[in-house]
Amino acid sequence: MNRRQWLLASAAAPLALRPILARAAKKGVRAAPVRLHSNENPYGPSPAAQEAMTAAFGESNLYPSSKYRELASLIAQREGLTPDHIVLGAGSHEVLRMAAMAYGLAGGELVTAHPTFEGLGRYASRIGTHVHQVPVTGDLIMDLPRMQRRMTQAVQLVFVCNPNNPTGTITPHQELLPFVAEAAKRAVVLVDEAYFELVADPAFATMVPLVKEGRNVIVSRTFSKVYGLAGLRVGYALARPDIASRLRGFRTDNSISIIGLRAAIAAYQDPAFVTWSRDTIAAEREAIVRKLTNWGHRSVPSQTNFIFFHLGRPIGAFQEAMAAKGILVGRPFPPYMDWCRLSIGTPENMQAFSDAFEEVMSTPSSD
Ligand SMILES: Cc1ncc(COP(=O)(O)O)c(C=O)c1O
Repeated sequence: MNRRQWLLASAAAPLALRPILARAAKKGVRAAPVRLHSNENPYGPSPAAQEAMTAAFGESNLYPSSKYRELASLIAQREGLTPDHIVLGAGSHEVLRMAAMAYGLAGGELVTAHPTFEGLGRYASRIGTHVHQVPVTGDLIMDLPRMQRRMTQAVQLVFVCNPNNPTGTITPHQELLPFVAEAAKRAVVLVDEAYFELVADPAFATMVPLVKEGRNVIVSRTFSKVYGLAGLRVGYALARPDIASRLRGFRTDNSISIIGLRAAIAAYQDPAFVTWSRDTIAAEREAIVRKLTNWGHRSVPSQTNFIFFHLGRPIGAFQEAMAAKGILVGRPFPPYMDWCRLSIGTPENMQAFSDAFEEVMSTPSSD
């Protein structure tokens, strides 16, 4: 972030968040590598979360069960559910694995889109579940009618990622709601809402109301993205109490540390950081999309802290060339081998990306 950008961003930021910008500016562009490959929040953790972590150091001799209850109660209260509906895990990844075990171990089959977040599908396949992968459409959105047609008798779990990773696209509420409601008559539907807090498009809506209605629906969320706590591993599921209890049967007890729980409790009650992060990231996302469009690279509309754009050359070699310049970009996502997933960083990170991108793209592709 240069001085002018820092002053502009700083003037727009709530007072309590200014230290974050100062820290981001201090890290500087030379804090290589620039991490634009894992969809993290470059501004996190918030000052409030950091303060809570510091306070938790002295409690590290204690098992964290009371903090589990405190965080579950806060989430339940905000969502209009009960703590029995909430399952906490070491990142939402653990929650996805619990679901894979609960519904895939005894010969259950899984229906999922492709490409999508692979945390659940890959694990399910390793434990012997047959996975039906349904390619996304030409517009890179989930092909719900085709997914519906793959619902065999043996399908026990359906995985839907909204917004989807790696594409960043949303499936509008109008289309997703009837699909989930119908599929949930025959199987459990897990809707991964890891990027929920970043979405601004009114066509999107959470599937939590279906949980409230008592349907066979699990919604998963995480503290790793907009809350900026990826390194602490805190995620959760919202589900009907009997489903939640079945999931808990497959969790590792106390897998979240007391520091992670304390930080999540503070972050959850700090809406200013969430809103500011969402808006700052969205502005930077639009800026890089404009630049790429001017350079002739199409991207799909994203509602997340990353974009998926048409690179027009093999991603593997590009990823390596960028890494050699200190910029990490997303891995290959077959079959989109000439597309790139790029996380949104600070203005300074994105300038570093643009500079390296122009250099790399000015040389012919080596494969
Ligand atoms: C869609 C989606 N779901 C789940 C996860 C897992 O995140 P975590 O385990 O950090 O909560 C990610 C991480 O990138 C993701 O993109």
